Amino acid sequence: MPNFTDPFPGIKETNPMNITDLIRALRLDLAAEEDAISLYSAHAESTTHSLAKKVLMSVADEERVHAGEFLKLIEILDPSEKAMLENGAAEVENFKEYSEKWKR
Ligand SMILES: [Fe+2]
Repeated sequence: MPNFTDPFPGIKETNPMNITDLIRALRLDLAAEEDAISLYSAHAESTTHSLAKKVLMSVADEERVHAGEFLKLIEILDPSEKAMLENGAAEVENFKEYSEKWKR
């Protein structure tokens, strides 16, 4: 019988993942959401059918919400995640200041 992909065969409630493996699984889920956003957006941008375009962009936005849910869950399970993301955001802000300074 055909089945959808199970990336973690044998891991079920009776044999649960530890937190490290759960975080790794959630990163895979987050990546899948990002891939779906890209795919649906590309399809929307590739059609002139207005209903299909609207539905595809709406679904892409729903995937962005899902990505946010996975990211928040990772932050809860790994308290260092939020600090790392904030460090990355601060680095980008520094680059913005640097590029504004030398833009003139
Ligand atoms: Fe999703």
